[in-house]
Amino acid sequence: MNKLKVLFACLLLFALASCSTGTETKDKKLEAKIDNLLSQMTLQEKIGQMNQISSFGNIEDMSGLIKKGEIGSILNETDLQKINALQRVAMEESRLGIPIIFARDVIHGFKTIFPIPLGQAASFNPEIVEAGARVAAIESSSVGIRWTFAPMIDIARDPRWGRIAEGCGEDTYLTSVMGAAMVKGFQGDSLNNPTSIAACPKHFVGYGAAEGGRDYNSTSIPERLMRNVYLPPFEAAARAGAATYMTSFNDNDGVPSTGNAFILKQVLRNEWGFDGLVVTDWASATEMIAHGFAADSKEAALKSVNAGVDMEMVSYSFVRHLPELIKEGKVKQSTIDNAVRNILRIKFRLGLFDNPYLEEDKPSVLYAESHLATAKRAAVESAILLKNDNETLPLTSKVKTVAIVGPLADAPYEQMGTWVFDGEKAHTQTPLMAIREMCGDNVQVIYEPGLAYSRDKSASGIAKAAAAAARADVVLAFVGEESILSGEAHSLADLNLVGAQSELIAAVAKTGKPVVTVVMAGRPLTIGKEAELSAAVLYNFHPGTMGGPAIADLLFGKEVPSGKTPVTFPKMTGQIPLYYAHNNSGRPATRTETLIDNIPVEAAQTSLGNTSFYLDAGFDPLYPFGYGLSYSTFTYGNIKLSSATLKKNDVLTVSFDLQNSGKYPATEVAQLYVQDKIGSVTRPVKELKRFTRVTLEPGEKKTVTFELPVSELAFYNIDMMKVVESGDFGLWVAGDSQSGEELVFKVID
Ligand code: GLC
Repeated sequence: MNKLKVLFACLLLFALASCSTGTETKDKKLEAKIDNLLSQMTLQEKIGQMNQISSFGNIEDMSGLIKKGEIGSILNETDLQKINALQRVAMEESRLGIPIIFARDVIHGFKTIFPIPLGQAASFNPEIVEAGARVAAIESSSVGIRWTFAPMIDIARDPRWGRIAEGCGEDTYLTSVMGAAMVKGFQGDSLNNPTSIAACPKHFVGYGAAEGGRDYNSTSIPERLMRNVYLPPFEAAARAGAATYMTSFNDNDGVPSTGNAFILKQVLRNEWGFDGLVVTDWASATEMIAHGFAADSKEAALKSVNAGVDMEMVSYSFVRHLPELIKEGKVKQSTIDNAVRNILRIKFRLGLFDNPYLEEDKPSVLYAESHLATAKRAAVESAILLKNDNETLPLTSKVKTVAIVGPLADAPYEQMGTWVFDGEKAHTQTPLMAIREMCGDNVQVIYEPGLAYSRDKSASGIAKAAAAAARADVVLAFVGEESILSGEAHSLADLNLVGAQSELIAAVAKTGKPVVTVVMAGRPLTIGKEAELSAAVLYNFHPGTMGGPAIADLLFGKEVPSGKTPVTFPKMTGQIPLYYAHNNSGRPATRTETLIDNIPVEAAQTSLGNTSFYLDAGFDPLYPFGYGLSYSTFTYGNIKLSSATLKKNDVLTVSFDLQNSGKYPATEVAQLYVQDKIGSVTRPVKELKRFTRVTLEPGEKKTVTFELPVSELAFYNIDMMKVVESGDFGLWVAGDSQSGEELVFKVID
């Protein structure tokens, strides 16, 4: 009997090990190499590996630090010759020849710029997102960059926060799928492939919940919400093999992430089995002094490294204070050794010891035709058609004169969006360029921007724009945000169009000509008024280098819009935070409430009822999550569940017929939502659990199937255990988070 027990225990252990995140250290040979190198390193050399600097250009000075073994990584150096020169110093002039990892923020492209990640998420297409990350890796690694600080997978439910632009929106499942796709794209099939760059899911964790949507502000995310909403995308990235992680600036419930052992050790290492390296955000170690969490840079170093940080970005407290902290016994030698093991492990996995240098005379891959084509495809699939009255779009041959107005019609720099360090505006193809090329001599294009830039408040050019509109068959108004208005540290308290853009739309609409409003922005904007005045609205989260040709193809029908909102669009800023996967509350809105303009004078105190809504904005958003129109229409029917009663280890199969009932070949993003009706804690009214893009010819009908393991309905419950609770569930299959008929099923023990 004993032998059987031992056998069972071994099998169980093996099973547990194999269902981990897959990033545990399995390579004994690699570990032996790491230990051998570690055993030769002095304390100063070990601490040097934990130090990352930002290139300050001066090769001699940086070489001096490298020779001393004081640098483990350099960010923001992108000159191939300089990178090779610095690497040669590390390999041939430092005592142990440990290579440097060169890093850069390659967030949505290096030279060929893709739509900002929020735009890429709108494609609901992980394949195109992975392809974009692959292009970014090929281009950036060709100059010697082998580590990017991406994907940014902070769940963001507050569009006042400028960094909503940089992530994949409000939804945990969508962000998990897109983040994993980016990790795979950046890292390729193997990290030691010279075109692979180490991914760095960031900002770990909860940064997108900054109070008031004001960047760097405190967050108050309780553990259950952290585990059910904010952590899953980072776990998905770990399962995808992410090589590194970056700590976030925010203090959550009073603890800055850079000093938070619970997330860095308990969750990331112990629960997920992560064995790569953790880097701080820019000076986030010493910023714990400003947080009031560290008295000085010595305590900042102490708290960071003891919490589980391996490498410090630019604030140099590790180099300055760790020797003393070790001498004082406040930091263990084993802590340093483990941090350096994690760093060396990534350097070995990247193949830097064997292939530290780049060929300097190989043909450039920057802006390759195939890269530009992929970027255009991404921009096409990221565009969201929010309105299209009377089939204004696509523009047909009846249109002989087009007036193009607005500050974003020909704004090559703005179109690339935030977090672009290396993309060049000279390579951007704008909508004006693309539409002029497409129209040629067949359609007259009149261009009157009306405003010089998005914040332009001078209305002096609006009359000329209106005059151009009066002469045209249709007006294309390109409005939105300059790229500087979103991104890091760029929070907004008001999401209305800036400058005199709203006046511009009103002026051209007043001519009576149909207005197609094309938005380029880094976030959802409160464009209800302008949408009212427009016959059609096409929304693009800064579409990147190829945004112009993509938008032109969409407007003139060579392509059909398929994007869906990855984030809820509020009617008013005051509705924020506003997201679809909300809890019901005890007094949910009925959506029939009397709104402010219809409240009788001297209305009795309780006459309006007591539900959760805004008197001046109601409850519903301007556009819900998952929403987007097509030039075709789609009908969902014959929705069937494999069973109405399931056990916890079952797989639910959902099948439905999807028909393209319009006249254009088109793609629909079909979505599956589930609600756990009753829980040991309150649960969201809906949660996205699957989505898929389905391309259909006019009239074509296809049966589509989703497979959903019941285990994916698990959540952290009242006992902080991740479980599936038996009971009743609601299920919807639809083209957005507000549509579809509810089906029900039961989970039993
Ligand atoms: C910035 C950002 C982070 C970025 C880092 C390096 O402050 O917060 O996302 O990767 O510094 O540029």
